[in-house]
Amino acid sequence: MKQAKSANSGKFSLKSVVSISDFSRPDIEAVLLMAKKMEGTSRAKKCKLLDTINVATLFFEPSTRTRLSFETAAQNLGANLISVADGGTTSQKKGEAVSDAIRVVAGYSDIIIMRHFIEGAARRAAEVCDKPIINAGDGSNQHPTQTLLDLYTIEKEFGKIDGIKIGLLGDLKYGRTVHSLAHALSHFQNVKIYCIAPKALKMPKHIIDELRGHVWVHETEELDEHLAELDVLYATRIQKERFPDPLEYERLKNTYILDRSILEKTKPIFRIMHPLPRVNEISQDLDETSAALYFRQAANGVPVREALLFLLSKQVKK
Ligand code: CP
Repeated sequence: MKQAKSANSGKFSLKSVVSISDFSRPDIEAVLLMAKKMEGTSRAKKCKLLDTINVATLFFEPSTRTRLSFETAAQNLGANLISVADGGTTSQKKGEAVSDAIRVVAGYSDIIIMRHFIEGAARRAAEVCDKPIINAGDGSNQHPTQTLLDLYTIEKEFGKIDGIKIGLLGDLKYGRTVHSLAHALSHFQNVKIYCIAPKALKMPKHIIDELRGHVWVHETEELDEHLAELDVLYATRIQKERFPDPLEYERLKNTYILDRSILEKTKPIFRIMHPLPRVNEISQDLDETSAALYFRQAANGVPVREALLFLLSKQVKK
């Protein structure tokens, strides 16, 4: 195994947040450090940081956490906000291309946050627009800001990310959060990633191949045999909306269901994460246990997204 990717010196260097592959370790660390500062600063003190900035949220796929935490973050920092919560209400219905919509919205705003069902839509948006673009999820491809809040959550809970032993569970084929998270973890030292999925929903081979050069990876269908080793189990929803065959979804939808019985096999520090929403994969009987990290993880979306907006706003002319 090669070493984890080497750290460059420097601060946050990105113009847009399109893919976690664009982040160096110092970029990631700059966001996590700024998020910590944001979390420790009162709203009264940070409410003017973006008061000359217009932020647009454009969501062409459903969202609860990502859109609302970005909008909360923008408002906490005093930004002006324009928002499309449902792409079906936009001129996309009349056939407008994403690239045209982005060019138009760039005339109204300084930073654009976009979720789209087409893989690569955020990259295309960043190519046609000179304003910072934030990818809030593009199809099955990437969800880089979820990854940053996942890393922030791990660091807050365990004090560090280096050395973490993490199981990625469920739909590793269509789940964009695990694609981004696995990639980001390859920047850290001595991380062990257990990819636990049914054969039909394995992590894509090109991602496994990329990871193998930098981080320890083990692929398996068996959850039980690895539970005792894990610090974190990152569960995911089976992505019904991305299955070409509904019967295949029905066959796989309940492959892994976590309940309290798993805690008989785990370490005291063991935690369960999930990007949410959950469907059946985590029983509510785990919610009040110390292992349940998923709701605190969702709350961490606000300081992390405040940090991203603040760091990207530095390149916006006032
Ligand atoms: N984790 C996540 O992306 O949730 P939403 O789809 O509700 O934004």
